Formats: sequence, structure tokens, C-alpha cells
Amino acid sequence: MTGKSHRLLLLLLLLLPLFLLSFFSGSYGYSAEGAVGYGYSVQSIYSNPTKSSLTADLRLIQNSSLFGTDVQSLNLLASFETNERLRVHITDSNQQRWEIPQEIIPRQSLLYHGYTPENRLYRLANNQLPLQDNHSLSIPESDLILTLHSKPSFGFSVTRRSTGDVLFSTLPEESNSGTMLVFKDQYIQISSSLPADRSSIYGLGEHTKNTFRLSPNQTLTMWNADIASANPDVNLYGSHPFYIDVRSPSSDGKVPAGSTHGVLLLNSNGMDVIYNGSRITYKAIGGVLDFYFFVGPTPESVIQQYTELIGRPAPMPYWSFGFHQCRYGYKNVSELEGVVASYAKAGIPLEVMWTDIDYMDAYKDFTLDPINFPPDKMKQFVDQLHQNGQKYVVIVDPGISMNNTYATYIRGMQANIFIMRNDTQYLGDVWPGNVYFPDFLNPAADTFWAGEIAAFHQLLPVDGLWIDMNEISNFISSASFPNSTLDDPPYTINNAGTRRPINEKTVPATSLHFSNITEYNAHNMYGFLESRSTNAALIKARGKRPFVLSRSTFVGSGKYTAHWTGDNAATWNDLAYSIPTVLNFGLFGIPMVGADICGFSQNTTEELCRRWIQLGAFYPFARDHSDKQTIHQELYIWESVTTAAKKALGLRYRLLPYFYTLMHEAHTTGTPIARPLFFSFSEDVKTYEIDSQFLIGKGVMVSPVLKQGAVSVNAYFPAGNWFDLYNYSQSVSVTSGQYITLEAPADHINVHVHEGNILAMQEEAMTTQAARKTGFQLLVAIDGSGKSTGELFLDDGEEVEMGGEGGKWSFIRFYGEAAGNEVSVRSEVVNGEYAVSEKWVVTKVTFMGLKQINWFNRYQLDLKGVKLNENTTVRVSFDKKGGFGTA
Ligand code: NOJ
Repeated sequence: MTGKSHRLLLLLLLLLPLFLLSFFSGSYGYSAEGAVGYGYSVQSIYSNPTKSSLTADLRLIQNSSLFGTDVQSLNLLASFETNERLRVHITDSNQQRWEIPQEIIPRQSLLYHGYTPENRLYRLANNQLPLQDNHSLSIPESDLILTLHSKPSFGFSVTRRSTGDVLFSTLPEESNSGTMLVFKDQYIQISSSLPADRSSIYGLGEHTKNTFRLSPNQTLTMWNADIASANPDVNLYGSHPFYIDVRSPSSDGKVPAGSTHGVLLLNSNGMDVIYNGSRITYKAIGGVLDFYFFVGPTPESVIQQYTELIGRPAPMPYWSFGFHQCRYGYKNVSELEGVVASYAKAGIPLEVMWTDIDYMDAYKDFTLDPINFPPDKMKQFVDQLHQNGQKYVVIVDPGISMNNTYATYIRGMQANIFIMRNDTQYLGDVWPGNVYFPDFLNPAADTFWAGEIAAFHQLLPVDGLWIDMNEISNFISSASFPNSTLDDPPYTINNAGTRRPINEKTVPATSLHFSNITEYNAHNMYGFLESRSTNAALIKARGKRPFVLSRSTFVGSGKYTAHWTGDNAATWNDLAYSIPTVLNFGLFGIPMVGADICGFSQNTTEELCRRWIQLGAFYPFARDHSDKQTIHQELYIWESVTTAAKKALGLRYRLLPYFYTLMHEAHTTGTPIARPLFFSFSEDVKTYEIDSQFLIGKGVMVSPVLKQGAVSVNAYFPAGNWFDLYNYSQSVSVTSGQYITLEAPADHINVHVHEGNILAMQEEAMTTQAARKTGFQLLVAIDGSGKSTGELFLDDGEEVEMGGEGGKWSFIRFYGEAAGNEVSVRSEVVNGEYAVSEKWVVTKVTFMGLKQINWFNRYQLDLKGVKLNENTTVRVSFDKKGGFGTA
């Protein structure tokens, strides 16, 4: 052999293991495990008496050699839990495996269906079905059909009955290429084909994405980690194995545009989800397969069905829709006071002042730094904020400083609530140095946490809590236990995008929680559990609606917390990334979400910060936050930012009743506050790729500038008339979706309302409290058929329940109508408990979109004393000279 061919051979030998590794571990998806002969055969199928569920016994055909031993026999349960929701659950028939506890995500128990591995009621009922190649499960009330396939080996598919569209199918593409199911102790793989040309997938977080619609060829890893969100595509703080699939029309015309379904794999273990456009493959390192299919058929109904299962979003207090200012590195109380005063002086509304870990004594939770943030001064500061109608929120981290003179630590030890490893408390390292982490799976930890929060609230009456570092973030990586397959599982998920060991920079997988639940299984739920505990503790301590902001989240976290997108950077890219993330969290049932305005890490610039507050003013959660090492970025620092902030936040504050009504809608139906365009315009397939604009509710569209130097924006307008929310003129009218170039000078962000909407707005003010005292102004945008509708929810903004039974709240519907030479708006009080007592009045009605009935496009009517809580009609008649209003 020549030297050259030697080197070539050596190179090939060196590359071979790399090729094999990638072949088996990720990028080639299912093919290695899909070889002929693997998988399971269907042994028997039983149906329940009402034929809404079935169970099947599956038996392994042949062992595969990778990632451990295959489970020999599996049991499948498929059931229609509701007409809109189909569940397919597959687990080991002989052994109990880890499943998310019922009390964390309450759901139908498998026992409900008469099934447990031990208790085979179906069999007793003798409902065995004859074995066929394909078995269907359907109920007349549901549009979903499940088919179990037994050839060439076990597989299943889910079809939409009305259109025949196959939504999910684990069948191999070619009938002779084997199976898509691998089921081992620490490795489960299943895969579904997708119609690449018609399927648009959204969700599967938490990752920073440069597009909202997933682009093919990526591995989406779920393993909660403290990785800065400035890093696109890698696993971040939360795990949400849920996606929606918005279908484009089929060529035979049977599937209409926008037909949407949702898929959840309810599994808390680490996993990789590989999406390549024509296939989605799950590789989970534990748990069971517990799939939920949500029928839709609209994006909105999918999220309603999803949140019906996982829990509806928590109501947020009215004040939390105001503007928030935070920074890591505020040095002392005087600096905080200075910031608050500077906002007031600049005339920029500031609702909530925040403090990062700086306020603590040596970074110990629930303490105050005696020198820089002494209790008496802090108390005065918070009291003053409250007198101003402002609020105060502080950070709390999970790690409790291990320190024998620290009362919280002592109480934690006494209550014995810390996470254990090797029969002792697991020792981590975070801001205070050595720490133990409370185990929120332990009910005693809730009591401990509530006690600490109550005591702290006595010391300082904070209005909400910010829970950070709860992935859990750990500054050290502990050594694995020798030969532990928990610390070093056979399949390595793509943690941090580098297949970094799962134990790195977190609590090791072999750590133990209450009732011996391993960190391996519970890891992704820690932030969820801490949110739940903190939410309950705040209700107890304050007796008011709690505000919790959590970095780490899991399926169902929206029940307890708001979320921010973590450590972004002050770059134009990060500005743009914030839209896909905010929209994703809406899909995940966490509608109260926003990104750090002006950017967290790196120095921002005046122009970036200006464009960021213009966009951020329309995030559901609007907070400016920055890192310690960076320059200050409070909005008053630059004149041009001040001007832009006043204008953008001014509109936000006018829209507060609208945001809050959307909060109520989210809380009662799950529908996100910030929505992708396709939520309202799903028949327009061009909206599927739009992620540089979004909607607030169903009809307010935000089209921000996302590029440096730009003074115009090329915005997509779905069909219809759109009215500029700043000057109320009809600025865009398109008969089909179209890109329009809009001017966007330095101080301006384009915000439009679509015809057919009525917005109940109030006036600008420096606090939400002051804004709530102003009169209501109705903006009635009449549509082409002469109609428009709107809604308004009102309560005191901090009652624990929102719109609950027996609560004091009002809900009003508005109906606009234009006919002949008359236009009117009518209010209908659905529930009138709150507005009655508050005596709110409508002071102005503006009708827009009147061109079709008259030569006036817009008509404004000033009113006195029209009560909001009464069924009232405001009418305007036109003659050639103008309009005449009556109420
Ligand atoms: C990490 C958080 O993501 C960030 O917002 C915060 O400022 C730092 N921790 C310090 O607490």
C-alpha cells in the first residue's frame, strides 16, 4: 500500500465509528431500527363494550441489539376520551413503568377503561375481536378514526374521517420495510410519516427558532437546561412535546386549507424529536408512549382541546399587563428609586419594578442585603410604589444556601425536603455557593415553601415572584455513579446540541425525589412543580391572584405561571427570534409570555432598543431586562427610545381592556393572546410561514421593524380592510392576501385592526390603575357585510378567580351594524356584576369602514354617560351633511 492509501484507510477507519454513531443515534432517524423483522406483532385485540376503546397485546418479533433489551410484550390502549381527543397508550404489559403522576397532569386513569396489566376486565368481558390485518376504532361523534395495523408488523394510524386525511401513521413508507416501534427500558422509538408538501408543523419546544414553522431536518431535543436562549435550535429551559399540524389543501380538494390537528406525547423523559419534513420520529429515553390526538379542525380548537387536557392558563392580574422594568445588577435601593423616578420624569408608563438576585444577602433566598437593600428602606420603597399604583417583583432561585446560620436552610433540613443522592442531600453549586434543592414532588416542600414565602411577604409585601434557574441549573456537574444507566443512559439525546451528558450542569439523574422518583424521570418537571408550589404559596400569603414568572416549564405549566424567553442577546436576530418563541408558548398553553426587551446579554444600541420596545409593547408580557455586564437600557436613557416607547406603550395601555379580555378568553378556552396570523386566516396558506408579524387576539395585527436601518416594513395583509390603530384611517384594503410596504419611521410601529372587530379601549396613563379610571372608547370596524363584534371582560383585576362562579365580574358583547344610512353599536351585558358597581361609561364611539354604506369612511361620536353595563344601542344616521348620533 502506498502512504497515501494508508492514510485514506486510516481516515476511513477513524470516520467509521462516527458514521455508525450518527446512523444509530440521530440523523438517519428511524432507518436503523426500521429494518425488516424488528418490531411487534399483534397477538390479540379486545374492545370495550361501548366500542369507544380497545386494547391490544403486542409481542416482540425479534430483539434489536441497540440501547438495551427489548420489552417482550406490550399492551396498547386506544380510547376516545372525548369526541375531540383520542389517546393511544403503549406500555410494558408485565411491568409498571414511569408515568407522569395523575396529580401533576390529571387525566383519565387507565383503570377508567377497565384496563390495567393486572386487571384485564376487557378479557373478562370476553370482547375479543377476531384478528384482522386492520382494525378500526371510531365513534360516530368523533371525526378521528384509529386504525391498528398488524401487517407487516404492528403499527397504527389516525385519520380524519370527514376528509380521509391521514394525520399520523407509524406504518413504514414501504410495506416491506419493517416497523417503526422500538420499546426498551431506556429507549422508545416511534415514527410517523407526514405529507411533506401539505404539512406545516409548529411547537415542540423549548427552542429558539429563526422560523415559527419548523423547517425540515432538525433534531428537537427536550431536556430542560440552563442554556442561553440566544442559541438557536438547542434544548432550552422547558419541554413541550406537543405540536400542531396545519394542513394545506389536498389536490383532490377533499382537505380544505387550514385543517389542523394536534399531537402530544405525554412523556417527561429526555427525548429527541427528529423532523425531516416527511416524517417525525420520537426517541425517548424512558416513560411510556402516551399519545393524544386533538381533532381540531381549526388551530384555535386544537389549542382549546389541548388545554382542556393539560389545564387552562392561569389568569394573570390586570397590573401584569403594564410595563415592567428589570435589570441584573441594580446596586441598591436608591438606584431602584432613581429608575422609578426617571420613568415618571420621562413620562413613560412603568407599572412594575423588579429586582434580580442583587437584593439578597449573599444570594440567600428570602433575605435582604442589610447594607444595600436594608429591610426598612426596602419596605418604604415598596410602600411608595404601592402608593403610586405600582408593583414590585423579586427573583427567587431554587437552591437553598447550605449554611447553618440561615433559618430557611435550617427549616428545610428539619422538614427534610431536599433532593437526595446516595442517602444524603444532593449538594449543588449556584449563586450562593453550596446549595440544596427543595424537592417539590414532596408535599412537605410545598408547606416549607409556602412558609418561607409568607414570612418573606411579611418582611416585604412583594406583588409577585420570579422563579429562575429551575431547570435545575447547577454550576457543577457531578460524577456519574459507576455503571449507572440513569446517569449514562444507553441512548444519548442531543443535549446542548452536542450530545452533552444529561448530568452536565444540573442535578444528576440518579438523585432521588419523594417516594424514590428519580431525577432521571422527574427532571423536566422541576420548573413546573416549583411554579405550582409558588403559585399556591402566593395565594396563601396575599389572598390575591398570584403572579409567577418561571424560566423552566413543562406541559401544563400555564396553569400556574407566566414565562419569559430567557437569556436572549441584544442582537437584531434575537429581536426576530422572539416572535416564534412567543407564539410557541401560546400553543403550549402559556399565553403570558415575552422576551427580555432590548436584549439580555451584550450591549444594546439605541436603535435596537427602540425597535425592541415597539415590538415588546405588544408581547403579552412586556419587560425590559438586561445582564449585569451590559450598559443600562432603561427606556428613558435615549431620547428617541423615550419617544418611541411613549407612543407604543401608549397604544398598549389604550388596549389594556382588550389584552385583559384576551386573558379571560385564554383562561377559559386556552386560546393564546398573541397568535400567528393563521389563527384568524387559516384559509390563506401564505400565512403559514409568517413569523415577523402576529396577531393580538383575532384582529389586531402587529408588523414590527426587525432590521437595522429599516424605515419601512414589508408586511403581509390577509384579505380585507385593515385600519391603522394610530390614526384610524383605512390604510390597507386587499381582496386577497398581499405584501404591502408600510412606512415605519423611527418612532412608529405599524398596528392594524381588521374589519369586523370592535375594540373596547381606554385612555393612556402612567399606570394600569390610572388607565382603568378613564372612559371607554369603542372602535367599531364594520366589515364588508356591515357587521362587527367585540367583547369586554371586567373585574377588579386581582381576585384569585377570573370569571368564577359567584365572582364580581362583567362580560359585555358588542354588535356593530351598518345598514341603509344608519350605523349602530349595541351592547349586550352577559354578566353585569362588576360594571354595575363601577359605573363605567363609554365616552366615545368611532365607526370605521363605512365606505360601503356612505361617503364617510369614519365617524366619531362623543358621548356622555352611556353606561357600559347596560344593554344600550348607539345609533348614527347619515344625511348628505353628515351624521347624527343618538344614544
Ligand atoms: C438567569 C436569568 O435567565 C436572568 O434573567 C437573570 O438575570 C440571571 N439568571 C441572574 O439572576
